[in-house]
Amino acid sequence: PGMASHGAMDAPVYTGPIALAPLSSLPQHRPLQPLPRLVNRARRGNLFRSRLVAAPARLKLGQSLPPTPFYCYNHSTPGPLIEAYEGDQIEIDFFNLLPQASTVHWHGLAVPADQDGAPQDFIPAGGKRRYHFTLPAGSAGSHWYHPHPHMMTAEQVYRGLAGAFIVRDRNDPLRHIPEQELFISDLKLAADGTVAPNDREDWMNGREGQFVLINGLHLPLITLVGTQRWRIWNACSARYLRLSLDGLVFSQVATDGGLLTAPVHGLTELLLAPAERAEIIVTAPSQGGSRVQLVAEPYDRGAMGRLAGPSPRRVLADVDIVPTSKTTLPVPDTLRPIAALENPTAEHMVAFSDFVDLEAPAPSNPYERPQDMLFLVNGQAYDMERIDIEGRLGEVEEWTVINATAMGMEHPFHIHGGHFQVLERNLDGITTPEPFLAWRDTINLKAGESAKLRMRITEPGLRMFHCHILEHEDLGMMGNLLVK
Ligand code: C2O
Ligand code: CU
Ligand code: CU
Repeated sequence: PGMASHGAMDAPVYTGPIALAPLSSLPQHRPLQPLPRLVNRARRGNLFRSRLVAAPARLKLGQSLPPTPFYCYNHSTPGPLIEAYEGDQIEIDFFNLLPQASTVHWHGLAVPADQDGAPQDFIPAGGKRRYHFTLPAGSAGSHWYHPHPHMMTAEQVYRGLAGAFIVRDRNDPLRHIPEQELFISDLKLAADGTVAPNDREDWMNGREGQFVLINGLHLPLITLVGTQRWRIWNACSARYLRLSLDGLVFSQVATDGGLLTAPVHGLTELLLAPAERAEIIVTAPSQGGSRVQLVAEPYDRGAMGRLAGPSPRRVLADVDIVPTSKTTLPVPDTLRPIAALENPTAEHMVAFSDFVDLEAPAPSNPYERPQDMLFLVNGQAYDMERIDIEGRLGEVEEWTVINATAMGMEHPFHIHGGHFQVLERNLDGITTPEPFLAWRDTINLKAGESAKLRMRITEPGLRMFHCHILEHEDLGMMGNLLVK
């Protein structure tokens, strides 16, 4: 089946090369806007109640383009930002008005397994359900939500379904610092204004759109006044973001799972693999009046074909530095305690592998889901019915995750249901202990690299773990963990 069989209602059937929209077709230099907020309709405290509607929507992106058919949450892409506090109860009524099944997965939140939007819990086209969970103490951080239906996650995300979810701590030690959200996604737009389908190279490498968008805007203008805290999401299917600010020095204060124990100062770049998040503190240099750029520096993730070699250096946004008489805001030396997880009571091993099967049938058109590219976990493609790993509730487990790629590609490992601590990484026979304690839910694995992680899952049930290059996930690089 090609695109037409399960694609958007508006999607044309492609058989040959697709002309892409030129970079000039989307406006640039518009001021960065905060993400739209999902309005809390609860009538009492400690409750966040609202609704998310996933539906096709047409959005006009540029003067010269007809409106683009997207899939949207509440008519916007990215979807509305959900903002709540630790301890809050969340009740979200989800309506699936898409022409296909969907789910909502709460990426980075330790919600009960039956609320986590697993592919087994799909909501059919036209269906609805309520997701409800409580945000536990310690869950503050920059999380996100996106669909997770079986074999259609990549497509639903690239058609526009993903949004940010910020959990706040009322005693956040950085609450005096103004914030900006940078939700970074990419968009592969055809010249006719439609979202282009995946071709063979997109399936192989994971898709990279020609547009990189921040809060949905192409090359926006960010205003930096004094000291700011930037929350940054890599919501791209496959693009790695090696971010820099033209040499401007910044501090990292958080990873996927919230604050670090102490700021890491003196950084000039930050690598975010797909699905990773970070929070940084940026201070405008005192001379002011200048402009720097937010740049994705070259990075070679081992992709093949047209994406082979280091990605070209690319400007993502202009940053206007506004002179201010205000003194810079202090960043505390310690942020919060993180206790190292104790010795594990169980160990598991997960190996990602990929290769091309030369015996498999050749595709009849370039936009067909390929059968000859294998993306496997411990030698097997994902099976919804198979339990790959059994875990024990509440115990600390040590996972060794290995990137045994034959194609030479990097793969970001992600697990649902909680965060892990990285102990060490091993590449080319060299073991590197992790430089600082942090909670993460995604870790990039270079070709041939392995990492030791420790985690404790505090809720029973079924969880996914997978490569967060979404095409690889959909082609089978995913497993089921059953926690009992
Ligand atoms: Cu964002 Cu299963 O992941
Ligand atoms: Cu997830
Ligand atoms: Cu992968």
